[in-house]
Amino acid sequence: MSSNPFRLQSPQPAKQPRDLRKAPAPQVQGADLKIQSRMKNVKYKVAILSGKGGVGKSFVSSNLAMALAAAGKSVGIIDVDFHGPSVPKMLGVRGQMLTADDNGINPVNGPFGIKVVSIDFLLPRDDTPVIWRGSIKHSAIRQFLGDVNWGQLDYLIIDMPPGTGDEALSVAQLVPNITGFIIVTIPSEVSTLAVRRSINFTKTVNTKIIGVVENMSYFVCPSESKNYYIFGQDKGKKMAEELGVPLLGQVPLDPRIAESNDLGEPFFLKYLDSPASKEFLKIADEVIEQVENQKLSDLNLK
Ligand SMILES: Nc1ncnc2c1ncn2[C@@H]1O[C@H](COP(=O)(O)OP(=O)(O)OP(=O)(O)O)[C@@H](O)[C@H]1O
Ligand SMILES: [Mg+2]
Repeated sequence: MSSNPFRLQSPQPAKQPRDLRKAPAPQVQGADLKIQSRMKNVKYKVAILSGKGGVGKSFVSSNLAMALAAAGKSVGIIDVDFHGPSVPKMLGVRGQMLTADDNGINPVNGPFGIKVVSIDFLLPRDDTPVIWRGSIKHSAIRQFLGDVNWGQLDYLIIDMPPGTGDEALSVAQLVPNITGFIIVTIPSEVSTLAVRRSINFTKTVNTKIIGVVENMSYFVCPSESKNYYIFGQDKGKKMAEELGVPLLGQVPLDPRIAESNDLGEPFFLKYLDSPASKEFLKIADEVIEQVENQKLSDLNLK
Protein backbone atom coordinates (compact mmCIF):
# COMPACT_ATOMS: atom_id res chain seq x y z
CA MET A 1 0.00 0.00 0.00
CA SER A 2 1.33 3.40 -0.87
CA SER A 3 -0.06 6.91 -0.77
CA ASN A 4 1.46 7.54 -4.19
CA PRO A 5 1.24 4.38 -6.24
CA PHE A 6 2.06 6.13 -9.53
CA ARG A 7 5.67 5.99 -10.64
CA LEU A 8 5.50 9.70 -11.41
CA GLN A 9 6.64 11.97 -8.69
CA SER A 10 4.04 13.98 -6.87
CA PRO A 11 3.87 17.43 -8.43
CA GLN A 12 6.53 19.61 -6.88
CA PRO A 13 6.52 23.31 -6.16
CA ALA A 14 8.13 25.59 -8.72
CA LYS A 15 11.41 25.79 -6.82
CA GLN A 16 12.21 22.14 -7.72
CA PRO A 17 11.71 22.01 -11.49
CA ARG A 18 14.71 19.74 -12.00
CA ASP A 19 12.91 16.80 -10.39
CA LEU A 20 10.16 17.00 -12.96
CA ARG A 21 12.63 16.98 -15.83
CA LYS A 22 14.09 13.77 -14.41
CA ALA A 23 10.78 11.91 -14.67
CA PRO A 24 11.42 8.63 -16.48
CA ALA A 25 10.64 8.48 -20.17
CA PRO A 26 7.56 6.36 -20.77
CA GLN A 27 8.10 2.77 -21.95
CA VAL A 28 6.06 3.28 -25.06
CA GLN A 29 5.42 -0.26 -26.24
CA GLY A 30 4.89 -1.92 -22.87
CA ALA A 31 2.70 0.96 -21.68
CA ASP A 32 0.53 0.80 -24.79
CA LEU A 33 0.04 -2.95 -24.41
CA LYS A 34 -1.03 -2.39 -20.81
CA ILE A 35 -3.50 0.28 -21.93
CA GLN A 36 -4.90 -2.07 -24.57
CA SER A 37 -5.37 -4.83 -22.05
CA ARG A 38 -7.03 -2.58 -19.42
CA MET A 39 -9.23 -0.77 -21.92
CA LYS A 40 -10.56 -3.86 -23.61
CA ASN A 41 -12.63 -4.40 -20.46
CA VAL A 42 -14.20 -0.95 -20.81
CA LYS A 43 -17.10 -0.89 -23.26
CA TYR A 44 -17.47 2.86 -23.86
CA LYS A 45 -14.95 5.65 -23.34
CA VAL A 46 -16.48 9.12 -23.35
CA ALA A 47 -14.48 12.34 -23.03
CA ILE A 48 -16.05 15.62 -21.91
CA LEU A 49 -14.68 18.64 -23.77
CA SER A 50 -15.36 22.34 -24.13
CA GLY A 51 -13.87 25.12 -26.15
CA LYS A 52 -13.53 27.31 -23.09
CA GLY A 53 -13.17 27.08 -19.34
CA GLY A 54 -15.69 27.31 -16.54
CA VAL A 55 -18.73 26.13 -18.51
CA GLY A 56 -19.34 23.12 -16.25
CA LYS A 57 -17.36 20.22 -17.77
CA SER A 58 -16.39 18.76 -14.41
CA PHE A 59 -19.92 19.21 -13.07
CA VAL A 60 -21.35 17.50 -16.16
CA SER A 61 -18.71 14.71 -16.05
CA SER A 62 -19.37 13.95 -12.38
CA ASN A 63 -23.16 14.16 -12.55
CA LEU A 64 -23.41 12.26 -15.84
CA ALA A 65 -21.25 9.55 -14.24
CA MET A 66 -23.70 9.36 -11.32
CA ALA A 67 -26.74 9.36 -13.63
CA LEU A 68 -25.27 6.55 -15.75
CA ALA A 69 -24.53 4.59 -12.58
CA ALA A 70 -28.08 5.24 -11.35
CA ALA A 71 -29.28 3.81 -14.68
CA GLY A 72 -27.49 0.57 -13.81
CA LYS A 73 -24.20 1.06 -15.63
CA SER A 74 -20.79 0.38 -14.11
CA VAL A 75 -18.86 3.61 -14.40
CA GLY A 76 -15.33 4.94 -13.94
CA ILE A 77 -14.12 8.51 -14.21
CA ILE A 78 -10.67 9.91 -14.97
CA ASP A 79 -9.94 13.50 -14.04
CA VAL A 80 -7.46 14.64 -16.68
CA ASP A 81 -7.48 18.25 -15.47
CA PHE A 82 -4.08 18.19 -13.77
CA HIS A 83 -4.00 21.92 -13.09
CA GLY A 84 -7.51 22.21 -11.67
CA PRO A 85 -8.75 18.77 -10.62
CA SER A 86 -12.31 19.09 -9.36
CA VAL A 87 -14.00 15.72 -9.91
CA PRO A 88 -13.10 14.28 -6.45
CA LYS A 89 -14.72 17.25 -4.73
CA MET A 90 -17.83 17.14 -6.93
CA LEU A 91 -18.20 13.41 -6.16
CA GLY A 92 -17.61 13.92 -2.44
CA VAL A 93 -14.41 11.81 -2.27
CA ARG A 94 -11.79 14.53 -1.86
CA GLY A 95 -9.05 13.64 0.61
CA GLN A 96 -9.12 9.91 -0.09
CA MET A 97 -6.02 8.03 -1.20
CA LEU A 98 -5.21 5.77 -4.12
CA THR A 99 -3.81 2.41 -3.09
CA ALA A 100 -1.97 -0.24 -5.05
CA ASP A 101 -1.72 -4.04 -5.05
CA ASP A 102 -0.48 -6.71 -7.45
CA ASN A 103 -3.26 -5.84 -9.90
CA GLY A 104 -2.25 -2.21 -10.18
CA ILE A 105 -3.54 1.03 -8.74
CA ASN A 106 -6.96 0.82 -7.13
CA PRO A 107 -9.26 3.74 -7.94
CA VAL A 108 -11.13 5.51 -5.15
CA ASN A 109 -14.71 4.31 -4.69
CA GLY A 110 -17.21 7.11 -5.30
CA PRO A 111 -21.01 7.34 -5.02
CA PHE A 112 -22.89 4.45 -6.72
CA GLY A 113 -19.55 2.56 -6.78
CA ILE A 114 -18.07 4.90 -9.41
CA LYS A 115 -14.31 4.32 -9.74
CA VAL A 116 -12.46 7.62 -9.53
CA VAL A 117 -8.87 8.53 -10.43
CA SER A 118 -7.50 12.06 -10.15
CA ILE A 119 -4.16 13.75 -9.53
CA ASP A 120 -5.97 15.40 -6.62
CA PHE A 121 -5.60 12.15 -4.63
CA LEU A 122 -1.82 12.53 -4.87
CA LEU A 123 -1.36 16.20 -4.03
CA PRO A 124 0.29 16.72 -0.66
CA ARG A 125 -1.54 19.98 0.00
CA ASP A 126 -4.64 21.78 -1.22
CA ASP A 127 -2.61 24.61 -2.70
CA THR A 128 0.12 22.53 -4.38
CA PRO A 129 0.35 23.60 -8.02
CA VAL A 130 0.95 20.98 -10.68
CA ILE A 131 3.75 22.24 -12.91
CA TRP A 132 4.02 19.75 -15.71
CA ARG A 133 4.93 19.99 -19.34
CA GLY A 134 2.84 18.24 -21.99
CA SER A 135 5.12 15.18 -22.10
CA ILE A 136 4.71 14.55 -18.36
CA LYS A 137 0.96 14.93 -18.63
CA HIS A 138 1.02 12.46 -21.52
CA SER A 139 2.85 9.97 -19.27
CA ALA A 140 0.38 10.54 -16.46
CA ILE A 141 -2.60 9.93 -18.77
CA ARG A 142 -0.88 6.76 -19.96
CA GLN A 143 -0.61 5.57 -16.35
CA PHE A 144 -4.19 6.55 -15.57
CA LEU A 145 -5.28 4.31 -18.43
CA GLY A 146 -2.81 1.46 -18.20
CA ASP A 147 -1.81 1.12 -14.55
CA VAL A 148 -5.21 1.51 -12.90
CA ASN A 149 -7.21 -1.55 -12.05
CA TRP A 150 -10.42 -0.41 -13.76
CA GLY A 151 -11.89 -3.89 -13.96
CA GLN A 152 -14.97 -4.37 -16.15
CA LEU A 153 -16.73 -1.09 -16.89
CA ASP A 154 -19.61 -0.04 -19.09
CA TYR A 155 -18.51 3.60 -19.20
CA LEU A 156 -15.26 5.44 -18.57
CA ILE A 157 -15.89 9.19 -18.41
CA ILE A 158 -12.88 11.44 -19.00
CA ASP A 159 -13.08 14.99 -17.62
CA MET A 160 -10.84 17.24 -19.69
CA PRO A 161 -9.28 20.59 -18.89
CA PRO A 162 -10.56 23.54 -20.95
CA GLY A 163 -9.64 23.76 -24.61
CA THR A 164 -8.02 21.50 -27.12
CA GLY A 165 -4.40 21.42 -25.91
CA ASP A 166 -1.98 18.70 -24.83
CA GLU A 167 -4.37 16.69 -22.69
CA ALA A 168 -7.11 16.53 -25.32
CA LEU A 169 -4.60 15.37 -27.90
CA SER A 170 -3.12 12.77 -25.53
CA VAL A 171 -6.57 11.40 -24.69
CA ALA A 172 -7.49 11.19 -28.38
CA GLN A 173 -4.20 9.41 -29.13
CA LEU A 174 -3.96 7.12 -26.13
CA VAL A 175 -7.51 5.88 -25.48
CA PRO A 176 -8.01 2.90 -27.78
CA ASN A 177 -11.29 3.00 -29.70
CA ILE A 178 -12.50 6.11 -27.93
CA THR A 179 -16.28 6.14 -28.28
CA GLY A 180 -16.57 9.90 -28.66
CA PHE A 181 -16.66 13.35 -27.15
CA ILE A 182 -19.45 15.19 -25.39
CA ILE A 183 -19.13 18.96 -25.75
CA VAL A 184 -20.33 21.20 -22.93
CA THR A 185 -21.37 24.75 -23.65
CA ILE A 186 -23.29 27.58 -22.10
CA PRO A 187 -25.71 29.63 -24.18
CA SER A 188 -23.60 32.76 -24.08
CA GLU A 189 -20.58 31.57 -26.00
CA VAL A 190 -20.01 34.05 -28.77
CA SER A 191 -21.32 32.74 -32.09
CA THR A 192 -20.72 29.17 -30.90
CA LEU A 193 -17.12 29.64 -31.97
CA ALA A 194 -15.71 27.74 -29.01
CA VAL A 195 -17.95 24.75 -29.74
CA ARG A 196 -17.03 24.81 -33.41
CA ARG A 197 -13.40 24.76 -32.36
CA SER A 198 -14.05 21.65 -30.23
CA ILE A 199 -15.96 19.98 -33.03
CA ASN A 200 -13.18 20.72 -35.48
CA PHE A 201 -10.72 19.25 -32.99
CA THR A 202 -12.64 15.97 -32.87
CA LYS A 203 -12.70 15.87 -36.66
CA THR A 204 -8.98 16.53 -36.83
CA VAL A 205 -8.22 13.64 -34.48
CA ASN A 206 -10.78 11.46 -36.22
CA THR A 207 -13.13 10.90 -33.32
CA LYS A 208 -16.90 11.16 -33.02
CA ILE A 209 -19.23 13.54 -31.24
CA ILE A 210 -21.85 12.00 -29.00
CA GLY A 211 -23.61 15.32 -28.53
CA VAL A 212 -23.75 18.70 -26.86
CA VAL A 213 -24.86 19.47 -23.30
CA GLU A 214 -26.06 23.02 -22.75
CA ASN A 215 -25.31 23.95 -19.16
CA MET A 216 -26.65 26.96 -17.24
CA SER A 217 -29.48 27.07 -19.78
CA TYR A 218 -32.01 28.90 -17.62
CA PHE A 219 -32.83 29.79 -14.04
CA VAL A 220 -36.12 28.79 -12.41
CA CYS A 221 -37.17 31.60 -10.10
CA PRO A 222 -38.51 29.76 -7.03
CA SER A 223 -40.91 32.53 -6.00
CA GLU A 224 -42.53 32.93 -9.42
CA SER A 225 -42.04 29.41 -10.87
CA LYS A 226 -40.89 31.21 -13.96
CA ASN A 227 -37.85 30.41 -16.17
CA TYR A 228 -35.30 33.17 -16.78
CA TYR A 229 -32.99 32.65 -19.75
CA ILE A 230 -30.08 34.57 -18.34
CA PHE A 231 -27.66 33.95 -21.21
CA GLY A 232 -30.34 33.76 -23.92
CA GLN A 233 -32.89 31.11 -24.81
CA ASP A 234 -32.09 27.86 -26.66
CA LYS A 235 -28.80 29.07 -28.09
CA GLY A 236 -27.18 25.68 -27.48
CA LYS A 237 -30.17 23.95 -29.05
CA LYS A 238 -30.01 26.10 -32.17
CA MET A 239 -26.27 25.61 -32.36
CA ALA A 240 -26.61 21.82 -32.11
CA GLU A 241 -29.20 21.91 -34.91
CA GLU A 242 -27.00 24.14 -37.04
CA LEU A 243 -23.99 21.88 -36.56
CA GLY A 244 -25.95 18.67 -37.00
CA VAL A 245 -25.06 17.20 -33.59
CA PRO A 246 -27.52 15.85 -31.02
CA LEU A 247 -28.46 18.10 -28.11
CA LEU A 248 -28.26 15.71 -25.17
CA GLY A 249 -29.88 18.04 -22.67
CA GLN A 250 -30.23 21.49 -21.12
CA VAL A 251 -29.17 21.76 -17.49
CA PRO A 252 -30.56 24.72 -15.53
CA LEU A 253 -28.65 27.15 -13.37
CA ASP A 254 -29.29 26.24 -9.76
CA PRO A 255 -27.56 27.82 -6.76
CA ARG A 256 -27.70 24.42 -5.03
CA ILE A 257 -25.33 23.09 -7.71
CA ALA A 258 -22.61 25.63 -6.93
CA GLU A 259 -23.21 25.16 -3.22
CA SER A 260 -22.97 21.33 -3.32
CA ASN A 261 -19.86 21.48 -5.48
CA ASP A 262 -18.25 23.98 -3.12
CA LEU A 263 -19.13 21.85 -0.09
CA GLY A 264 -17.82 18.69 -1.74
CA GLU A 265 -21.23 16.99 -1.75
CA PRO A 266 -22.40 15.07 -4.84
CA PHE A 267 -25.24 17.22 -6.23
CA PHE A 268 -27.06 14.47 -8.14
CA LEU A 269 -27.20 12.25 -5.07
CA LYS A 270 -28.26 15.01 -2.71
CA TYR A 271 -30.96 16.56 -4.92
CA LEU A 272 -32.31 13.60 -6.87
CA ASP A 273 -35.63 15.35 -7.41
CA SER A 274 -34.20 18.61 -8.73
CA PRO A 275 -34.80 19.64 -12.35
CA ALA A 276 -31.04 19.40 -13.00
CA SER A 277 -30.77 15.83 -11.68
CA LYS A 278 -33.82 14.78 -13.72
CA GLU A 279 -32.16 16.32 -16.76
CA PHE A 280 -29.02 14.30 -16.04
CA LEU A 281 -31.09 11.10 -16.04
CA LYS A 282 -32.43 12.18 -19.43
CA ILE A 283 -28.93 12.96 -20.67
CA ALA A 284 -27.71 9.54 -19.48
CA ASP A 285 -30.55 7.89 -21.44
CA GLU A 286 -29.63 9.92 -24.52
CA VAL A 287 -25.97 8.95 -24.19
CA ILE A 288 -26.91 5.29 -23.82
CA GLU A 289 -29.14 5.57 -26.89
CA GLN A 290 -26.48 7.32 -28.99
CA VAL A 291 -23.61 5.13 -27.89
CA GLU A 292 -25.15 1.70 -27.48
CA ASN A 293 -27.40 1.85 -30.52
CA GLN A 294 -24.52 2.93 -32.74
CA LYS A 295 -26.15 6.21 -33.64
CA LEU A 296 -22.91 8.13 -33.58
CA SER A 297 -22.58 10.12 -36.73
CA ASP A 298 -19.70 11.78 -38.42
CA LEU A 299 -20.23 15.47 -38.61
CA ASN A 300 -20.86 17.70 -41.53
CA LEU A 301 -19.81 21.14 -40.41
CA LYS A 302 -21.67 23.77 -42.32
N1 LIG B 1 -25.81 24.53 -13.80
C1 LIG B 1 -25.10 25.15 -12.85
N2 LIG B 1 -25.70 25.93 -11.91
C2 LIG B 1 -24.97 26.56 -10.96
N3 LIG B 1 -23.62 26.48 -10.86
C3 LIG B 1 -22.97 25.71 -11.78
C4 LIG B 1 -23.66 25.00 -12.80
N4 LIG B 1 -22.74 24.31 -13.54
C5 LIG B 1 -21.55 24.58 -12.99
N5 LIG B 1 -21.68 25.41 -11.94
C6 LIG B 1 -20.58 25.97 -11.13
O1 LIG B 1 -19.76 26.69 -12.04
C7 LIG B 1 -18.39 26.52 -11.71
C8 LIG B 1 -17.63 25.93 -12.91
O2 LIG B 1 -18.06 24.60 -13.09
P1 LIG B 1 -17.00 23.47 -13.48
O3 LIG B 1 -15.83 23.51 -12.57
O4 LIG B 1 -17.73 22.20 -13.64
O5 LIG B 1 -16.54 24.03 -14.93
P2 LIG B 1 -15.38 23.48 -15.86
O6 LIG B 1 -15.83 23.70 -17.27
O7 LIG B 1 -15.02 22.09 -15.48
O8 LIG B 1 -14.20 24.46 -15.48
P3 LIG B 1 -12.67 24.33 -15.94
O9 LIG B 1 -12.65 24.75 -17.37
O10 LIG B 1 -11.94 25.24 -15.03
O11 LIG B 1 -12.28 22.88 -15.79
C9 LIG B 1 -18.35 25.64 -10.47
O12 LIG B 1 -18.27 26.47 -9.35
C10 LIG B 1 -19.69 24.92 -10.49
O13 LIG B 1 -20.14 24.58 -9.20
MG1 LIG C 1 -13.16 21.27 -14.88
